[in-house]
Amino acid sequence: MTEEQATVVAPESSAPTDEDVILELNDVRTYFELDEGTLKAVDGVSFNIRRNETLGIVGESGCGKSVTGQSILRIVPKPGDTQGNIWLRRNGETVDLASLDPSGREIRDVRGRDIAMIFQEPMTAFSPVHSVGNQIMEAILVHENVPKQAARDRAIEVLSQVGIPEAERRVDALPHELSGGMRQRAMIAMALVLRPKLLIADEPTTALDVTIQAQILRLMQDLQKEMGMSIMFITHNLGVIANMADQMVVMYLGRVVEQGSVEAIFGDPQHPYTQALMESIPRIGLTRGERLTSIAGTVPVPLNPPEECGFSSRCPKFIPGRCDAKVPDMLETSPGHHVRCVLYE
Ligand SMILES: Nc1ncnc2c1ncn2[C@@H]1O[C@H](COP(=O)(O)OP(=O)(O)OP(=O)(O)O)[C@@H](O)[C@H]1O
Ligand SMILES: [Mg+2]
Repeated sequence: MTEEQATVVAPESSAPTDEDVILELNDVRTYFELDEGTLKAVDGVSFNIRRNETLGIVGESGCGKSVTGQSILRIVPKPGDTQGNIWLRRNGETVDLASLDPSGREIRDVRGRDIAMIFQEPMTAFSPVHSVGNQIMEAILVHENVPKQAARDRAIEVLSQVGIPEAERRVDALPHELSGGMRQRAMIAMALVLRPKLLIADEPTTALDVTIQAQILRLMQDLQKEMGMSIMFITHNLGVIANMADQMVVMYLGRVVEQGSVEAIFGDPQHPYTQALMESIPRIGLTRGERLTSIAGTVPVPLNPPEECGFSSRCPKFIPGRCDAKVPDMLETSPGHHVRCVLYE
């Protein structure tokens, strides 16, 4: 690749003008100031999500996927701090979520109504001492001024919509009284009851066995079509991304190293890290809790990281004096396909 072919992508600093873009991250940085130094969990992340589209976010453990999701909803625990822009299109306007008070009214209204999140472990989303139905009703009543009975009817309706049999009875169950798969469905029901425009799914099926995993993924796709929402799907599993996503982002050590359409990246993975991830895809599907481990070495902790390509220490194509001289720029190597690697400069 010659320099004429690749163009540096300048970070956008203003709100997106494309009506179809519902969320746009621009140079988002979430750092934790610790006694030991600055931990750069998310370090200059930019991407966008379009209406009805699924964006897959992939990378090994510790790459900053969850902190990116937390940054969008402004639920990063202290001492984490988020800078940059997180543009959300809502009520015909564009708001920068990064500029909001994380405990203020506007972001609380965004949570659940505009953007909902589901997690790997549903027990973290539910309180163990209240029935599933009461918690779904609570989610409705916080945002909408409707009678309790109407909220209960909606809770039953959404529980049956996610495929929970006998929802009229199960609505009164405590979370631990449901099986793992049913609990996961109940959490999806709680996330979707307000019909959010964006669902952030953080490893929502990793804890489930393969059959249930496939059912839940299918359910999310069906609900997406029915409700017309966008999904940001965080996973270690490239197979799931290939199945579910339209666009994908590959993260390494708090940065996006490659992004583009699923077809483009699977057809021509360009970053050595993406290539290593592709080579580590297991035979058929991941089994319970399995991680991508076949890349030599582990993701370092981004504590006071040097200004270099984060993958330098593990990269089979490492070029001394170049890869460790600066953080490579994000380059567009073909329309919509971006990679952050000196090999393409
Ligand atoms: N609350 C926190 N305080 C300090 N450091 C944190 C905190 N949360 C995450 N980190 C650090 O930020 C980095 C990114 O973590 P993150 O949880 O986003 O990774 P991840 O890609 O979601 O990994 P996994 O696949 O294991 O879920 C890691 O180095 C992690 O140790
Ligand atoms: Mg995570």
